[in-house]
Amino acid sequence: MTHITQTREDTQALGMQLAATLKRGDVVLLTGDMGAGKSEFSRGIARGLGVTCAVPSPSFTILNVYEEGRIPLFHFDWYRIGDESELTDMGLDEYVGGDGVALIEWHERAPYLIPETALEVQLVPQEDGSRRITFIAHGNWEENHS
Ligand SMILES: Nc1ncnc2c1ncn2[C@@H]1O[C@H](COP(=O)(O)OP(=O)(O)OP(=O)(O)O)[C@@H](O)[C@H]1O
Ligand SMILES: [Mg+2]
Repeated sequence: MTHITQTREDTQALGMQLAATLKRGDVVLLTGDMGAGKSEFSRGIARGLGVTCAVPSPSFTILNVYEEGRIPLFHFDWYRIGDESELTDMGLDEYVGGDGVALIEWHERAPYLIPETALEVQLVPQEDGSRRITFIAHGNWEENHS
């Protein structure tokens, strides 16, 4: 399924729509270059789950946790990690497929921590500034969300 969003607000709105379908244990992988809109989309998911506080990018913190919404939200950015041991040493891998929804930016950095069943959201900036956003279901995602 592919969508085109013209503005960051449109991208957030798409994230909000997806949030309504999410369940505990879900893993959402955000794929796209720097500035593609992964954090904007994540902000929409947070809003859609009922998070009202600020949702900053986890670029420096690796993980931001939000307990305020309908289900807990674990927002990761793995851009700065060297390899998966940095996550497993801190026990952060337990949040992937845990008690809430895990959103992961730069998941390519630690592929061994990604479960087979996940939703990939690909964000590709277009020449006019819009974003092409494609949802790709992996493993049993579709069966689990129908
Ligand atoms: N249609 C659009 N959708 C999303 N963001 C847009 C759009 N048009 C412009 N933007 C801008 O693009 C930027 C996207 O930044 P964002 O932090 O979400 O990227 P990112 O993919 O998370 O990057 P990083 O890999 O650095 O974390 C924002 O400044 C936003 O305002
Ligand atoms: Mg980001």
